[in-house]
Order: sequence, then C-alpha cells, then structure tokens
Amino acid sequence: MSAPQNQPSVDYLPHLPNLVDTWYPPSREHWQLLNYAWQFFPLFTAAQWLTTFYPSGKTSIDSKLNLPGKWAWCFMEMPGMLTVLYCLMTIPHQEGLRTIPWANWTMAGVYCIHYFYRAILCPLLNPTMSPIHAFVFASAFCWQVMNGLVIGGWLAGYGPTSVFDWSGKLYTIEVGLILWGWSFLGNIFHDDDLREIRRSALRRQKEQAQKENKPIEGVEKLYMLPKNGLFHYILFPHYLCEWLEWAGWWMIGGWSCTPARSFLLNEISTMLPRALQGKQWYIEKFGKEKVGDRKAIIPGLL
Ligand SMILES: NC(=O)c1ccc[n+]([C@@H]2O[C@H](COP(=O)([O-])OP(=O)(O)OC[C@H]3O[C@@H](n4cnc5c(N)ncnc54)[C@H](OP(=O)(O)O)[C@@H]3O)[C@@H](O)[C@H]2O)c1
Repeated sequence: MSAPQNQPSVDYLPHLPNLVDTWYPPSREHWQLLNYAWQFFPLFTAAQWLTTFYPSGKTSIDSKLNLPGKWAWCFMEMPGMLTVLYCLMTIPHQEGLRTIPWANWTMAGVYCIHYFYRAILCPLLNPTMSPIHAFVFASAFCWQVMNGLVIGGWLAGYGPTSVFDWSGKLYTIEVGLILWGWSFLGNIFHDDDLREIRRSALRRQKEQAQKENKPIEGVEKLYMLPKNGLFHYILFPHYLCEWLEWAGWWMIGGWSCTPARSFLLNEISTMLPRALQGKQWYIEKFGKEKVGDRKAIIPGLL
C-alpha cells in the first residue's frame, strides 16, 4: 500500500529506542516546554556584552582545559544534526505517523547539509584552527543539543504532519530555499577566503623552505586582513551569510515556525557581540587605518 498523500513514508527509517525517557527524544509536553524556553536564550547571551572572555579562535588562551581546535569543533558542531536525525527516527513511530511531508524533509535535508559542511568539512579544509577551551566546547555542545531537539521535534511530528499543513506555502518555500542556498554559498566563499590566507602563507613557506633549506614555521594563529567579496565592506561576512541562510530557512518553515525563528535569533544574539568584539580585535591588531571604514557585520551600518 502506498503512503498516504504521496508523502515520504517513515517505514523505511530505522526505529531507534528512547535514550532518555520523555527527554531524548522529547515527549510532546517536554518538546513544548523546550520550544518555549529556547526563545529566551538571548537573555543568557547578555553576558557576552559584558566580557570579552571567549577562549576560542582569535581570542583563544593558554589553558590546561584547551581542546585541539579541529576535533573540538567537529564534536561540538555535530550534535544538532545527529539530534534532528535521531528525532526523525523515533518520534514519528511514537506518534503513530506513517509519513512526514516533503517540506519537513526539505528543511531537515538542508539543515543537515549545512552541518555536514560545518562540522565535518570545515575542520578538514581549515589549514589550522586555534585550540578551543572546554567551556566553549561545553556551551556549544549544549546549544546544539537544545537546538536539535527543538527543531527535530517540530520536524518529526510536533509541527506540520500532513501536506495540508503546508498548503499555500509553495512560494515562500521556494524563495526561502533560494535565499538559503545563495547564503550558504556566500558563507562557504567567505570561510574559504579566510582559509586561503593560511593556505597561501603555507605555500610561500614551503617554497622558501625548498629554496633556502629552512624549516617551515607553520601558520597557527597567523592572521591577516581578508579583502575579497563582502570582506571589502565588513569583517564578518561569513556570519552575515549564515544569518541570511537561517532567515531563508525560517521562511521555508513559515513565520509561525518558532524553532526556526529561535534558531535565527539565538544565533544573532551570540554572534553579534562576537563580531563587534572581533572588529575591535582587528583594529587593535592592524590599526584603525588599515581596517578603514569597514563595519563589523552589516555593510554601512554596524
Ligand atoms: N562563533 C560562533 O558563535 C558561530 C556560531 C554559529 C556559526 N558560526 C559559523 O562558523 C564559521 C566559523 O566561525 P568562527 O567564529 O570560528 O569564525 P572566525 O573566528 O572568523 O574563524 C574561522 C576560521 O578562520 C580562521 N581565521 C579567522 N580570521 C582570520 C584571519 N583574519 N586571518 C586568517 N585566518 C583567520 C580561524 O582561525 P583560528 O581558529 O586560528 O582563529 C578559523 O580557522 C562561520 O562561518 C560562522 O558563520 C559561528
């Protein structure tokens, strides 16, 4: 018998057991609670405006609690994607759903594509990454699990469950997907411009090493002012593109999609202070003149 409404059947997915009863995956009541509470995350990020302490990346410190950058990045960025996939392999069976609408799968798919790039490809592509303090690792890990539960719950059975829930939304889905796709490419482009700084320095070092028989110094913590693409106008275009990506994703889900709205606003609330402090860091390192009139994150504005 074909699946009702011609929507993808969940019968083909593995049926996984509950890992933490009523919490992982969440029951409907617990998901509602998490979904509500997650909207208030920006209140916690208020602390970021009061301190520049952020022991990772440019502002990493020497500490016994430091973890190797690439591994830590991979393991702290992965839980969101795994949690969403886990919800899709548990909640529909518990809710007695035989199908999940195409649009839910589309949202889950693009979310996973992003995090496959972010968690797995980025550490492989980045020439080096500064150590990440256990505090940053633990915060990002918890953030990912929470975001994954809220999004996963919505996609897997507590949000739209039939094609009728998506009716009339085709155009916003299409526009949202286009915005998501171009912004994802923009995010990758600007991430890669930063990579190229260290890649080209490494190439130069290798050439010199061959010519002059000198050892390679390495490119850890080598920073330069990036200049290509939107770096011409702002210092954190990769952050801006990421925001636009998740704005597109929210558009796909529709304005009433609370998990997508929280995701975007929570990212902005934590990345905005980081970008503004990052601009200050660039000014201190390279001088006001070299930074010029480039803004932190919104061209011409902020
Ligand atoms: N940070 C967040 O809260 C957050 C949240 C959600 C998504 N993201 C996304 O994750 C990606 C990375 O974020 P991030 O905060 O790690 O960005 P970032 O501080 O700009 O660093 C990205 C990478 O580029 C290197 N790098 C940064 N500036 C450089 C420069 N001027 N010259 C040479 N190399 C430079 C960094 O090396 P080091 O590691 O050695 O500094 C790191 O490997 C972005 O696309 C962002 O949108 C970040």
